[in-house]
Amino acid sequence: MRIVLVGPPGAGKGTQAAFLAKNLGIPHISTGDLFRANISQETELGRQAKSYMNAGNLVPDEVTIGMAEDRMRQSDAENGFLLDGFPRNVSQAVALDAFLDGTGTKLDAVLDLEVPEDEIVKRIAGRRICRNDSAHVFHVFYASPKTEGVCDVCGGELYQRGDDTEATVRNRLDVYHRETEPIIDHYKAQGLVVTISALGKVEEVTRRAMAALPQLRH
Ligand code: AP5
Ligand code: MG
Repeated sequence: MRIVLVGPPGAGKGTQAAFLAKNLGIPHISTGDLFRANISQETELGRQAKSYMNAGNLVPDEVTIGMAEDRMRQSDAENGFLLDGFPRNVSQAVALDAFLDGTGTKLDAVLDLEVPEDEIVKRIAGRRICRNDSAHVFHVFYASPKTEGVCDVCGGELYQRGDDTEATVRNRLDVYHRETEPIIDHYKAQGLVVTISALGKVEEVTRRAMAALPQLRH
């Protein structure tokens, strides 16, 4: 299965992707996590991405598309993947269409997570992620770790993302509405979009997503 997850910052894409990828037996590919790993390893790609991310702007397509395609070409992604945070504008969506055409594959679904803005602010304000792997996501109230400040998965130190400040979150939301929302119409034209509410407990949202996905299987 090849799925794209879309939704505003803080909607719960990363949280849901971890469970859905496990349930569906496909890798979770997050361009945000890939960028953060490159930043912590101090690679050239991380250096290029850092200033854009800290400001809440999109990293240029020339950097992002190649990185996403390299990841999708890896052997664990041969039979499918769950994309989280990519594509993020129409030109990335067009590039993904071309990439899939070139490999003789296609998307099965675009899962659109809907959350009201006041809930987004609460989710982002309390988010803590792991220094070892930014895919390990917690929340001080809603998904608290067993030991404060320590990752349940690997024992790493939990910290607040540098782009989770109020001003940057406001910009990320603007960028989402301006640049990313139009991809929903792009995929509606292909009949791929399924929209679910991402309100409620994490497990409830996962159940809702799993129930919605088979409708789009070809
Ligand atoms: P990215 O890392 O993708 O960030 P984002 O899209 O802003 O999304 P978030 O990771 O903030 O939110 P999420 O939806 O994953 O929510 P989460 O599961 O953590 O991108 C960061 C930056 O990288 C971008 O700004 C850009 O600069 C760059 N970038 C990345 N991809 C790019 C691309 N394709 N092109 C160009 N630039 C790119 O949940 C949030 C919190 O809520 C957590 O604390 C969680 O525990 C909690 N939570 C989750 N679900 C629930 C629930 N049901 N109830 C209560 N709490 C919940
Ligand atoms: Mg995320």
